[in-house]
Amino acid sequence: MARLLLLLLGASVLLLASAVTAQDCLSATFSGGRTFGKCNSLPSLSASLHWTYHPENGTADVAFRAPSDPSGWVAWGINPDSGGSMEGSSVFVASQDGSGAVSILMTNLESTSPSLTNTTALKFKVPAGPAAEYSDRAYTIYATVELPRNSTQQFTVWQAGPATSNGGISPHPTAPANLASTQRLDFLSGSSTAAPNSKLHRRNVSSSSSSDDDPFPLLLSLFFCSIFIFFRLQRLPSFLA
Ligand SMILES: *[C@@H]1O[C@H](CO)[C@@H](O)[C@H](O)[C@H]1NC(C)=O
Ligand SMILES: *[C@@H]1O[C@H](CO)[C@@H](O)[C@H](O)[C@H]1NC(C)=O
Ligand SMILES: *[C@@H]1O[C@H](CO)[C@@H](O)[C@H](O)[C@H]1NC(C)=O
Ligand SMILES: *[C@@H]1O[C@H](CO)[C@@H](O)[C@H](O)[C@H]1NC(C)=O
Repeated sequence: MARLLLLLLGASVLLLASAVTAQDCLSATFSGGRTFGKCNSLPSLSASLHWTYHPENGTADVAFRAPSDPSGWVAWGINPDSGGSMEGSSVFVASQDGSGAVSILMTNLESTSPSLTNTTALKFKVPAGPAAEYSDRAYTIYATVELPRNSTQQFTVWQAGPATSNGGISPHPTAPANLASTQRLDFLSGSSTAAPNSKLHRRNVSSSSSSDDDPFPLLLSLFFCSIFIFFRLQRLPSFLA
């Protein structure tokens, strides 16, 4: 029973956390009158993902937004093969040259030192876009992607890094936040989980961020969790399913 309660507490903390982060991304607005049905505030690099999933043809219209210096780059993509790894992903990289012209690169990451070849042959189809813009010190990448295997469950990756002086893409830092920037996302429900081999990195990120946190928000969320558990207990079987 104690174990069950612990499980419930853990699950409700997660649900609460995702509800809170979903709220953060809801206020985002986009150029060209674009709107998106769902969004997630991503767990690292202050990035957010916004999307509309079309079940009738298995595509998702996506907007990825991440803060960056004007000289930096950001990227978002999908790894159709395995979770938690940059290698094997197909990604969109936004950057800009010295004149402020934003460009976008589509590329397959063959290894952890990728060639960054600009190609239209990603591991999934891109029926519309990509496009990118930079404003308010953040890049936004827009694209429509055909979800690999027509599955709503995908391993997503994102990243941010510095550019070299000639506008080339330099390797990203290997700080915990940069290594934790991967998660498995369900484009239908919006739920996300850390990809399998990013657990270690996640642990590092959470321990470093909780140490400088005020304990009050935690106590507050525990309080709401107990209320939440109370109501959820009545619907236990469906909740655990
Ligand atoms: C997929 O379906 C949506 C909604 O019906 C439509 O707007 C979009 O153009 C379709 N995309 C493709 C590539 O067929
Ligand atoms: C993807 O799956 C949906 C059902 O979930 C189906 O209606 C649709 O035709 C499929 N799309 C493609 C491109 O296979
Ligand atoms: C990649 O190629 C596309 C289309 O050919 C082009 O529009 C885009 O600017 C290129 N990206 C870069 C970074 O050169
Ligand atoms: C966790 O952080 C420590 C130092 O803060 C570092 O030495 C270690 O490599 C990190 N581990 C992972 C998996 O990132």
